[in-house]
Amino acid sequence: MLYTLIVGLGRSGLGLHVPVLSRARSHVPGTFADHPIVGVDPGNTPRAERRDLLIAASLRRARDLLDPARTVVHLCTPPAVRAEVLREVAALGFSRILMEKPLAGDLATLRCVLRLAREQQLCLSVVAPWLHSTLTRRLVQLVGDRGPGAVRSVSVTQHKPRFRRSLSTSSHTSAFDVEAPHAVGLLLRLLGDAQVRGARGADLRVGTTTVPDMGGAHLELLHTGGIRSEVLSDLSAPVRQRRIVLGMEDGSVVGHYAVGQDDDFAQLEITRDGHTTREVFRDDSLTACLTHAYRGYAEGGDEAGGGDLGLHVRTVELLAEAKRLAARSPAGGASPVGGTSPAAGTSAAAGMSPLAGTSPAAGTSPVSGTHPRKEALSHGR
Ligand SMILES: NC(=O)c1ccc[n+]([C@@H]2O[C@H](COP(=O)([O-])OP(=O)(O)OC[C@H]3O[C@@H](n4cnc5c(N)ncnc54)[C@H](O)[C@@H]3O)[C@@H](O)[C@H]2O)c1
Repeated sequence: MLYTLIVGLGRSGLGLHVPVLSRARSHVPGTFADHPIVGVDPGNTPRAERRDLLIAASLRRARDLLDPARTVVHLCTPPAVRAEVLREVAALGFSRILMEKPLAGDLATLRCVLRLAREQQLCLSVVAPWLHSTLTRRLVQLVGDRGPGAVRSVSVTQHKPRFRRSLSTSSHTSAFDVEAPHAVGLLLRLLGDAQVRGARGADLRVGTTTVPDMGGAHLELLHTGGIRSEVLSDLSAPVRQRRIVLGMEDGSVVGHYAVGQDDDFAQLEITRDGHTTREVFRDDSLTACLTHAYRGYAEGGDEAGGGDLGLHVRTVELLAEAKRLAARSPAGGASPVGGTSPAAGTSAAAGMSPLAGTSPAAGTSPVSGTHPRKEALSHGR
């Protein structure tokens, strides 16, 4: 039976992990110890108090309340303090660590995290709801059934309005770390390894205020099998959208991931030889992800915590390369998600992606040419 320690009680720790775990504990018998979740966040204690959560003033105090050998630690702190907090929990004897994405925000942190894991024999896993989603499973199966040659291009759109959080907290310093880690992990799972072929970012602008690098991210990948994919994430969009479009040799596949915990349903639309079918199904991917990790930790072995570490390492490497390329792209360029950037002109979006002109969303897309917001984004770098 496993205990839970959540480090970092912000949007992810308190807003997502605590409620999901509270529900999962009653649905997954034999895995969770009969003990409240323990939380630590010196910066956010008063807001965090609730019945199913025991707040500890420090990690040391949390260790006194828990058995480190039988505890899963959720690291829900911002990427900038990943390695530092990991070092602290490891020094206190905790070894089963479930890290919020991204595994690391840059290559130096990644090296540090992996070194710590090796030296302290930590069993790391990464919170990756999209990899545990029913929609992803359906897509992987579909691509497997039809053969990779049937896929022409893939485009993932991850838009949401993220003004309040970007203006009020510095938990993230790059739009590439907000939504893109989910998409890159998914693309690696679906299409295999890849190289970055282009990337652009944008600042977030509201009136006279600018938040550097937080307006949006666009990256293009070339997978080893020759398929191109792209990720477009506009964090100044007026609506939320988490969509994947596969351009197929005989049609298209459009998947919509659930956009929030308040409605955990996904959609899948398959068009083949002119005939379209559409399905809607429950897809509570965060619950699936967390319970999978706990089962893995409970069972032990090589897959303890859920496996996939190599894929998350590769995701960090590709995002680091994308950030490097985006930083080099000329200032004053077009929106990373607009149609006029040099990257977009040569990308899957321009020539191959079904998003370019035929998707139902394309005509009304907040990232098409006429939205006033584009002007603000277009001054990003
Ligand atoms: N916000 C989301 O919807 C969401 C969803 C999935 C994943 N994530 C990921 O979760 C991580 C955290 O993001 P967030 O949005 O929850 O950030 P947040 O700013 O809302 O919360 C982070 C919390 O960590 C605390 N903290 C900072 N340093 C700490 C330390 N040394 N010890 C203990 N607590 C510390 C802060 O006080 C804050 O309350 C990020 O990597 C993010 O990508 C966020």
